[in-house]
Amino acid sequence: MKTHCLLSMLMLCGIGGVVASPDGPMLFQTVCAQCHGTSGEGKVEIKAPAIAGMPAWYVNTQFANLREGRRGHDAADPQSFMMAAIAKALEPEQIRAVVAYVEQIPMQVPVGKDREIANANVQDGMRLFQERCMECHRYNGSGEMTFGSPPLIGRQSWYLEEQLKKFKSGKRGAMKNDVNGAKMVQVTNFFIEDDQMLRDVVAYIMTLNPTVKASPFENIGR
Ligand code: HEC
Ligand code: HEC
Repeated sequence: MKTHCLLSMLMLCGIGGVVASPDGPMLFQTVCAQCHGTSGEGKVEIKAPAIAGMPAWYVNTQFANLREGRRGHDAADPQSFMMAAIAKALEPEQIRAVVAYVEQIPMQVPVGKDREIANANVQDGMRLFQERCMECHRYNGSGEMTFGSPPLIGRQSWYLEEQLKKFKSGKRGAMKNDVNGAKMVQVTNFFIEDDQMLRDVVAYIMTLNPTVKASPFENIGR
């Protein structure tokens, strides 16, 4: 399947040792872009998140989790299972190079379907966020390295929803030694009681994203 082709492609990249140090942008375009998009904007069809501008410390943690079986260990979670296969096929130097590049790509602001969320109460979401999320993810959702909590802005609404469900059901964060994931398993189980609360808090997080400037050509009627 798709993953299989990718894996053989990665092996080929390793043969011959032509490239002394791996080329981050090249690796990104040949390996990551088909799922995460050429600008790291993500792809809803395969539920791949936007990763543009994601801090290197967080991407490194996730690659370690994926490679060491703390994330993507469960075939019932096909997205992270697939991502784990990719992470395991890369050499540490390749990971270093691509992670450094990912951090440099300008963050993509979610728009349209990637930003909207139906039947949500933003006010309720704001209260929940301020009471239960802000201390770790910061008031503006920008994340905090010292807590291992990633930025929540720059991610699509459907991705945030999915991840909260994965933490709540233990598909993510429940493995032994996943100290950071365990925090989210607790938060989702204690404080996100139902799908309504989940939608509310995600809807509020989406408002923390910068607004997209209206196109100057908007009214020309194209
Ligand atoms: C075959 C498709 C595919 C390819 C190729 C792929 N990814 Fe992914 N990636 C995904 C999917 C799907 C997810 C979402 C996993 C989940 O839902 O838990 C993901 C998740 C991630 C995450 C976690 C994001 C977060 O917010 O926790 C990072 C980081 C990531 N990918 C980086 C990369 C990089 C860098 C590459 C290239 C070396 C790459 N991916 C290649 C499909 C892919
Ligand atoms: C005690 C600190 C803490 C609190 C409180 C907390 N988080 Fe987190 N959150 C984290 C950490 C740490 C991670 C990274 C987990 C990992 O490394 O897999 C995370 C990850 C996430 C992710 C996954 C992001 C991604 O890119 O995959 C989402 C979504 C999230 N948190 C939302 C929330 C929401 C919503 C709340 C409030 C209801 C909340 N968090 C409260 C620490 C916290």
